[in-house]
Amino acid sequence: MKLDGKPIGQDWDRSGLPGWTYFSEELHELEREEVFRKMWQLVCHANDVPETGDFMTLDIAGERGFVVRGSDGQVRAFHNLCRHRGSRVLAEEQGSCGSVITCPFHGWSYNLDGSLRGMAVRNSFPGDVDKAQFSLKPLEMEIWKGFVFVRFKPSEQASVAELLSGFDEETAHYNLEDIQPTGEEVWVDEMPVNWKSVRDVDNEGYHVKQAHPGLQDLYGGSYHDEVFSNGTSRSVGVFREGEAALWSVKAYRSILPDATWLPESHRKAWVYIGMFPNLVIGLYPDSITFYQELPVSSSRTIQRGAVYRFKDEDRQLKVARYLSGRIDRDTVEEDQMLTVWSCEGAKSSAYDEIYLSDLEYGLKSHHDQLRSLIPVMNCTEEPAIGSVAKINQSMKTG
Ligand code: FES
Ligand SMILES: [Fe+2]
Repeated sequence: MKLDGKPIGQDWDRSGLPGWTYFSEELHELEREEVFRKMWQLVCHANDVPETGDFMTLDIAGERGFVVRGSDGQVRAFHNLCRHRGSRVLAEEQGSCGSVITCPFHGWSYNLDGSLRGMAVRNSFPGDVDKAQFSLKPLEMEIWKGFVFVRFKPSEQASVAELLSGFDEETAHYNLEDIQPTGEEVWVDEMPVNWKSVRDVDNEGYHVKQAHPGLQDLYGGSYHDEVFSNGTSRSVGVFREGEAALWSVKAYRSILPDATWLPESHRKAWVYIGMFPNLVIGLYPDSITFYQELPVSSSRTIQRGAVYRFKDEDRQLKVARYLSGRIDRDTVEEDQMLTVWSCEGAKSSAYDEIYLSDLEYGLKSHHDQLRSLIPVMNCTEEPAIGSVAKINQSMKTG
């Protein structure tokens, strides 16, 4: 087996992150700051906000952001934070605000470029207030092949385009800029687990055979993970030869048209692109998907995702998309159960260390990236209460 072009030897640390890192609220504070505020976060696709005033919001790690389409056609991103008293200016997850964003608290209003349009009861403020000082605060934003990413704090992380440059050739076949929302809203599930438990389950295909009858029937033993070193990963499952056993897989395989716009190797394959810390984009012959983990606390996580259709989808492809969505929904439910069980395990008094297979190298690679950002995660025992940030700082500088 090769990962990142290098064969894996017998000699690597198979123990994974220690149990305490899955329930320490102090550590979670560091994760919020070092990982989630400083790393690119996917909000939506630009085609989710096609018209002037269309918006999509994203809450993560104590931050609130949104993207909105301006009257000049530009997509912009802002903190979802009123400059009067800090209320959300957009309350829904998705919608249209027309030509003006009006804060639901006292009614300050903003133009779609973020500038302050009006202050309710204007004469209750001094006459010489400089409105320019009270624009919505912009967010750093990057659009990669239509996908809109934001970053809440500056960091040394490369641009999304650089991070995902290894996939330019592969993704070009799918015309990602043109994919369209299906009309169904972004799905959101909240789970009583640490976000890393969700990612750990997703970062390996070792469990597919045992835990995912649908995926096993679809692509069986061909599924494998490739791990790259720059914070991205790739996994691929090529459809099995022969008759499928499950009706959903059988129906999907028989209805799926020959995706002639894709290279031969991708016409009967599901490809997953992972981006550190919490995003997967799925490239299917019938649709494009994404899902991500949004931590709420050390012990609660929201999983959020969406499905997109190809621009020229015909009826047959639409049915195929519906059927692949069914297989995916079952997979998500199966994974969520495994996530809960493994996160519970990390809290058990009997949990000392785990023991990873070569097929779970993706976990190690993800854990390594976390440990390099937050070195206190190397501590096998939970540091004393109140000392996690301090120890982390001294490990960073020392
Ligand atoms: S908080 Fe927005 S108008 Fe007061
Ligand atoms: Fe899974």
